[in-house]
Amino acid sequence: MSRGTTAVIDFDNLRHNFNVLKQLAPSKLVLVVKADAYGHGLKQVVQALDNVDCFAVATIEEALTVRKYRPKTKILLLEGFLDKYELKIAFEQHFDSVIHQQEQIQMFEDFQTNQVMNVWLKYDSGMNRLGFSGDEYSRAIKTLENNNKVNELILMSHFASANQKHNKFNTQQVEKFIKFKTSHEISISNSSALLNHINIADEWCRVGLALFGVSPIEDKTAHDYKLKPVMTLKTNVIALKQIKAGETIGYGQAYTAKTNMQIAIIGIGYGDGYPWSLGNNATVKLNNQQARIVGRVSMDMMAIDISDIEIVDNITIGDSVLIWGINANGNLPLETVASNAKTIPYVLLCQITSRVHYQYVE
Ligand SMILES: Cc1ncc(COP(=O)(O)O)c(C=O)c1O
Repeated sequence: MSRGTTAVIDFDNLRHNFNVLKQLAPSKLVLVVKADAYGHGLKQVVQALDNVDCFAVATIEEALTVRKYRPKTKILLLEGFLDKYELKIAFEQHFDSVIHQQEQIQMFEDFQTNQVMNVWLKYDSGMNRLGFSGDEYSRAIKTLENNNKVNELILMSHFASANQKHNKFNTQQVEKFIKFKTSHEISISNSSALLNHINIADEWCRVGLALFGVSPIEDKTAHDYKLKPVMTLKTNVIALKQIKAGETIGYGQAYTAKTNMQIAIIGIGYGDGYPWSLGNNATVKLNNQQARIVGRVSMDMMAIDISDIEIVDNITIGDSVLIWGINANGNLPLETVASNAKTIPYVLLCQITSRVHYQYVE
């Protein structure tokens, strides 16, 4: 009997989401696949998608992985190069690079090469993370327009609150950024901007979370946007127990049984990336029915109350339990799990640990 803790990655759903987003986007899509494709497996995800305009990653190592499997596709370094060594690789591997600060412009100007690069020049329209502001940006545009190592110059910025459709900050950011629009293509939209129809007709929309069939917008799930979850996380029942009224369950005796109850111990815990904060505070699905987590989440397992599950007597060791996603056990959106854990879906996807098995299915 295996513990069965598995992230099932559905390529059909991935491609379905890609098609939905292509129809939503005013033009080209940058598929953001940093952090191991948001925990889905970088190598597998980039191989599963054809006719991609551009992939984007955060680090040079991630970019090299994508290049290995996609020798011809445009690859964008979202934070740019950090030193001369990375800049050299970027030229050699034909990566596109963000430039967001003066130090990078200096490094780029000083670098001796006959090759050219596509540069995505980043404007800080209010996020206050990366990018040039105001006059600095105009100067940087001029400098790079006059640099013969620049092939194409694309202007980009990043939304701070596009997940809030009516937040005035979105309009303020667009108004500040759009002033710089000349003949260069622009890029500002992320998943939230696209799904919330914050339409600024940028030539490049950079989408991450939505590609994986997860909604970045609070109180909405992928289903609301005709997207399908790419990851389903599941585990198995590894033990069954009868608990008497008054007995406690697990570390810290954090749960006391009010009546006699039947519990199942399932093979997932915070050592797999499941949030500890969900102890006594979330459900999983078994036989298409909800079962509450009782007591604290341990490193490798947790207890669920199966007393009220129909045909409870049929539940046996080895039965499959749905943690999030969709399978024969039902539908449990990652967005709901994240909301219960008072976190965001991005975090749950990125914190899945290496001992979770991955299964790729069509
Ligand atoms: C610069 C940049 N653009 C686009 C994205 C994609 O965002 P999302 O996953 O919300 O679509 C990210 C993600 O963090 C980002 O850092």
